[in-house]
Amino acid sequence: MMPAAPIQHRPGPLTENFYNESNEAPDVAFEQSLRPPAFDDFCGQQKVKDRLMLMVEAARLRGDVLGHILLSGPPGLGKTTLAHIIATAVGSKIHITSGPQIEKAGDLAGVLTNLHEGDVLFIDEIHRLHPSVEEYLYPAMEDFKLDIIIDQGPNARTIRLSLPPFTLVGATTRAGMLTAPLRSRFGLTDRLDYYPVDELTKIILRSAHLLDVEVDSPGAQEIAVRSRGTPRVANMLLRWVRDFAQVKADGMITAPVARDALAMREIDEDGLDEMDKRILEAMVHKFGGGPVGLSSLAVAVGEDSSTIEDVYEPYLIMQGFFKRTPRGRVALPSAYGKLGLRPPRASSFEQPELL
Ligand SMILES: Nc1ncnc2c1ncn2[C@@H]1O[C@H](COP(=O)(O)OP(=O)(O)O)[C@@H](O)[C@H]1O
Ligand SMILES: [Mg+2]
Repeated sequence: MMPAAPIQHRPGPLTENFYNESNEAPDVAFEQSLRPPAFDDFCGQQKVKDRLMLMVEAARLRGDVLGHILLSGPPGLGKTTLAHIIATAVGSKIHITSGPQIEKAGDLAGVLTNLHEGDVLFIDEIHRLHPSVEEYLYPAMEDFKLDIIIDQGPNARTIRLSLPPFTLVGATTRAGMLTAPLRSRFGLTDRLDYYPVDELTKIILRSAHLLDVEVDSPGAQEIAVRSRGTPRVANMLLRWVRDFAQVKADGMITAPVARDALAMREIDEDGLDEMDKRILEAMVHKFGGGPVGLSSLAVAVGEDSSTIEDVYEPYLIMQGFFKRTPRGRVALPSAYGKLGLRPPRASSFEQPELL
């Protein structure tokens, strides 16, 4: 049964198509067309790239299979893209699945027994693997062995299959939700961070080139600042601005055209959309600035708490609109500023560091 939806709301422009991976059908082809095929085309995240390239090179020199890699970070920053790039770099086939897709140990056995030596197995949303499935993954990652139970009742017995050595690339929006035994089996755990504006500008210029869209640098930058540090958002906004420019301007994306196009989507100069503002409003108006727990906040804004935690909150916290404390989320002065309000006296923020 569906829980009663507390509040009807129009999904924010950034959620519905931009983040909902399970529902990304309309955008798959678009995203794939813009996906950088090699490390050289992948803008930014230099340190992560350096470490990955080093691992790839070392494996190549030794003639070894690449070690297992875990990539974490908010949606849309390039985890899936990097998994593809890694597979290409080692010259291997990539097999793609996700935590929720592997419902039982048998599903995992099916996936694993289809691998060939050196193949990359990409498990998206790996934090959502069922614990009973996860246990089978440990020996598979460590010794390339798979224990399967055949028959039932008194005849049940375990047989141990040997698997070809493979590379597991896991992606997660929540590294903290991975169990310690699983995390410890990755040779490299790396986190992708939000992109600075200059890198997003480069990504937008690259995408515009691939899409054959005319955009000048100020136009690209105008889109970049509103992209919440996220390449996926940058590409989606570019697509919107392209449509706008075609209909309302002569097809060329300049800064004023980009500004007007994004104003029409109610995306403000910090990249905040309707849901972001709804979250800030709820914190300030309904909960007196906090502290407020995640689930209360979720009910107040009519959004799923995991979506708030994975998608909205990391960016709002990074931008300094609120912070997490042991007692809950607390609005910071810039949240009040964003809503056109004066923040309460500094003492009520409790924290001397804010003065
Ligand atoms: N560093 C980057 N350079 C260029 N494009 C990128 C970069 N990172 C992500 N993208 C683009 O953003 C979109 C989302 O990336 P994706 O790898 O699917 O993110 P994630 O798996 O982390 O949610 C893709 O279309 C990809 O082309
Ligand atoms: Mg992905």
